[in-house]
Amino acid sequence: MLGVCYYPEHWSTEQVQKDIHLMRELGIHFVRMGEFAWSRIEPKPGQFEWRWLDEVLELVDHAGMKAVLGTPTATPPKWLIDRNPDILPVDKEGRRRKFGSRRHYCFSSPAYREEVRRIVEEMAKRYGEHQALAGWQTDNEYGCHDTARCYCPRCQEAFQEWLKEHYGTVETLNTAWGAVFWSQEYGSFEEVELPNLTSADPNPSHYLDYYRFVSDQVRNFNRIQTNILRELSPGRFVTHNFMAFFTDFDHFALGEDLDFATWDSYPLGHTEVFLAQPELTRRYAGTGHPDIPAFHHDLYRSIGRGRFWVMEQQPGPVNWAPSNVSPAPGMIRLWTWETLAHGGEVVSYFRWRQAPFAQEQMHTGLFRPDFSPDVGFYEAKQVAGELKAVELPHTQRAHVALIVDYEAAWVYEIQPHGKGVSYAGLVFHFYTVLRQLGFDIDILSAGTSLEGYELVIVPSLPIIHKKALESFTDFKGIIVFGPRTGSKTENFHIPQELPPGPLQALFPLKIVRVESLGLENTDTVVWQEKEYPVGIWKEWIETDIQPEVEWTDGRGAGFHKDSIYYLAFWPNDEFLLDFFAQLTSEAGLKPLRLPAGLRVRVRGDLAFAFNFSDVVHKTPAPPGVHFLIGTTELKPYDVAVWKGTIQ
Ligand code: GAL
Ligand code: ZN
Repeated sequence: MLGVCYYPEHWSTEQVQKDIHLMRELGIHFVRMGEFAWSRIEPKPGQFEWRWLDEVLELVDHAGMKAVLGTPTATPPKWLIDRNPDILPVDKEGRRRKFGSRRHYCFSSPAYREEVRRIVEEMAKRYGEHQALAGWQTDNEYGCHDTARCYCPRCQEAFQEWLKEHYGTVETLNTAWGAVFWSQEYGSFEEVELPNLTSADPNPSHYLDYYRFVSDQVRNFNRIQTNILRELSPGRFVTHNFMAFFTDFDHFALGEDLDFATWDSYPLGHTEVFLAQPELTRRYAGTGHPDIPAFHHDLYRSIGRGRFWVMEQQPGPVNWAPSNVSPAPGMIRLWTWETLAHGGEVVSYFRWRQAPFAQEQMHTGLFRPDFSPDVGFYEAKQVAGELKAVELPHTQRAHVALIVDYEAAWVYEIQPHGKGVSYAGLVFHFYTVLRQLGFDIDILSAGTSLEGYELVIVPSLPIIHKKALESFTDFKGIIVFGPRTGSKTENFHIPQELPPGPLQALFPLKIVRVESLGLENTDTVVWQEKEYPVGIWKEWIETDIQPEVEWTDGRGAGFHKDSIYYLAFWPNDEFLLDFFAQLTSEAGLKPLRLPAGLRVRVRGDLAFAFNFSDVVHKTPAPPGVHFLIGTTELKPYDVAVWKGTIQ
């Protein structure tokens, strides 16, 4: 259940021996290492130094633990770059990035792909069938430091090939892109450039194809590795560690090539950086927003087709956020239990010991740089002890599903059309309201069968592909569509029949105009005689259906036909809470109104409660249940686990 990220190349042989021993004592099962160690594995071209890693694997094995090896492809060494300088990626401003940190490679570089093949093959030959090896992590955090999208000549060539395959003729491309606009028409695929450094915005269809191309490149790059590992390392898993709120490539697609997904959880930094709302940052300074880890657990459980790990768990203050606050006492333990409650298999702490040198010297670990244990060590130890008393059952399907789509994120990014219009923001907003109502949520990709769910939420799906439309048509439960759904064709045009495009077959309404309202609430909707302020987004609707939600001037803002709902505005928290409370009751579910900072989750026959706040809450457990951890009183930052259900 517990793992640790370890960098034996940073420490002396004697220290490594002590460390491995201490890991075993702590209750660690998985040691993840190797992902940045290329310069120690191959210090000179073709000259391999395996001894040090052989020894560590031996030690891990003797200690009865298992190793997860990272392929070191996020950090090509200096000699390799100097031989092929065009491996270095080019940023959006057209500047070539330099050697001296990490992720300094272009996904399209043929030279780099050759090198990747070589090093992965060497590693897999050496360790693929090693007794201590549980499995592999490919590379490290694809796309981190804004490296998925490269604007180099190699990428341009590869993009032209990609377009040729998709469109066949350049005339088809010109039509698909509406290239007649501003005289953008091309005479051949070789004339097409990458969509950066233009005077005004590039053509959105051009942009979208480039984003799709990038997504395919990342997946192909990863496949080079998974193919080799599957062949040379039979019976071992292959995974990748994804990031939070990162949408530059389609994670569902890449996930199909893995055995399960893992992700890297740094709740405090994510709260400050991604929510970017000073008030929330302040409120959740020591705990992180309660739904950020949960959202990603549910997302990656889906990407991993039912299985996920946290490959890196924040152990204390990090070094990369605008402010790097200490987690409140108990949070490392809480985050660990929460991962398990959401069906996670392993929580692996990043990192074993804080490094006194280099870029991450201000990032804590389970141990301090003076080799003494830090706070995270004691919290992990507590979990290791508690785990002995708990047997974790399988995770069941939730009643409520939320559709997440990477292409939708690209459409929003390319054409936000107003302040505050963010796809990830909208999705997270819907998610957090459902969690405040106490629901477990399954996240699904668009096009997945919806059978078996009582309630399905589609926060927004601008491009509705055929499979998604079929799944909506077949679905018998309640389904809610948010704004901008069906607003674009696959080529990024406004649909001929107007939005919501193909959805009109299920729901006869037309969006005839949209407005972005800005961040202030400048409008109001009325639902069941209650008024709710609205900002950010508003749509004008033409339909014969009677509205269920109205603007104050009586025009329709929300509609309902049979079990299908359409919300033609950016709903605020209060509206969604009231609205979903009613819908879920109609669907036969039991919504709660959890106090701020309290969250619950069910895994099989176990129920969990988490207190992300600094006040005591009553544990929402039915009377008389048997507690495995905690009691009826849930202290600040505390966890309770009991046999049974919620309330
Ligand atoms: C992750 C990365 C790790 C480490 C960590 C620091 O993004 O995978 O290597 O840099 O952040 O928080
Ligand atoms: Zn490139």
